[in-house]
Amino acid sequence: MEKLLIKGGSSLSGSINCSGAKNAALPMIASTILSDERITLKNLPYLQDITTMFELLGSMGAEILLDEKMNFTISSYNLIDTEARYELVKTMRASILVLGPLVAKYGKARIALPGGCAIGTRPVNFHLDALKKLGAKIVLKNGYIEASAKKLIGTNINFEGITVTGTENIMMAATLAEGRTIIKNAAKEPEIIDLANMLTSMGAKIEGAGNETIIIEGVTNLTGTEFDIPADRIEAGTYLAAAAVTKGNITIEGINPTRLMKVIDKLKTAGAMINYTSNSISLNMTKELPNPVNITTAPFPDFPTDMQAQFSVLNAISSGDSIVNETVFENRFMHILELNRMGCNIQVKGNRAYIKGVESLYGAEVMATDLRASASLILAGLCAKGETVVDRIYHIDRGYERIEEKLNYLGADIMRLPS
Ligand code: EPU
Repeated sequence: MEKLLIKGGSSLSGSINCSGAKNAALPMIASTILSDERITLKNLPYLQDITTMFELLGSMGAEILLDEKMNFTISSYNLIDTEARYELVKTMRASILVLGPLVAKYGKARIALPGGCAIGTRPVNFHLDALKKLGAKIVLKNGYIEASAKKLIGTNINFEGITVTGTENIMMAATLAEGRTIIKNAAKEPEIIDLANMLTSMGAKIEGAGNETIIIEGVTNLTGTEFDIPADRIEAGTYLAAAAVTKGNITIEGINPTRLMKVIDKLKTAGAMINYTSNSISLNMTKELPNPVNITTAPFPDFPTDMQAQFSVLNAISSGDSIVNETVFENRFMHILELNRMGCNIQVKGNRAYIKGVESLYGAEVMATDLRASASLILAGLCAKGETVVDRIYHIDRGYERIEEKLNYLGADIMRLPS
């Protein structure tokens, strides 16, 4: 298994481009199933999760072409199979995103039921309840979701809890349903707006994406389109946090700061100077130690759970005490035990981490448990004294494009050790 060897102590400086957003790209790739024509996606990030989604569509008979400019053209309109096998679903829970499009377009789907995962139980009951309301028959059998419907019929859906991929799944399904669907208590993440924009460019009729209520008028068919994947706000936030913990001075190009306002506010509270344009964010950290910042994660527009682990490191090397309150996932503190092995002083009680800032961390051999946990271990390694080896980095390759190259370009010293 490959590992990352990090020699800590360098301040990050310089400028890098933000990659396309994984969590925008995944539903967009799934949405190609709804179309009767070819779809071209540009600025797709080169990530394991994207490859897995292509493998999934490929296994169902989609044709995927890559041109010399790294644009992907996807023809998913003639699928010969509507099954997402367990081998693929177990490596990526976002495979569930093909459920809505398959039932809407082909009238059936057989999707392996995602199991638990490192950050929580993560059930898919909200997706299934909403799809049933649209008229699908759903049976759980032998570890699979078997869904079928002659035709989905628009209806009112009130999500019991806010779910990002659930909102995406149902928004996609409703585009081809008969009549009007009103989704209430919808997720408001920017990736929902991105997906709605792409679906609209394919002929879908969607109003209100980004708000609590989304209204979709079903259409009979969707066309092809060409669409650019917007920049990854969590990647941008992670590099900004990396600069903040290394007393750095960096600029992230290509990111719209309105997608990251809560993170920017907290970085400012930590003592960083931030400037932004409509398409870039710069951070300059001159303070010896960051100020501690209390964090409570919650759905957009509040502080993202996907930035919690990175801010745990920022607080761990801060000048005081802080509390990180994780309200989205019930078990997203696996990184804390590893961080404590590097000299952090963090106690977890229930869904809260109580952090006492220390002046410095030391390198250690640590193990990544999930995507954002691995990012936090890299941040800790960057500001620690000595060498840190991060094991199980396949987690990081699922969601950060060329992370060591980008960080080394900013002055870090990271080497990928072969397995
Ligand atoms: N939930 C249910 N039932 C459901 C769906 C969700 O109880 O049917 C619960 C979950 O267990 C969780 C909460 O609702 O406690 C929110 O989960 P949500 O469904 O919003 O998460 P998701 O759609 O599975 C997406 C991102 C995650 C990100 C979360 C929260 C994608 C592909 N994944 O997951 O990204 O953490 O929203 O913002 O968009 C990551 O990139 O590292 C990542 C985990």
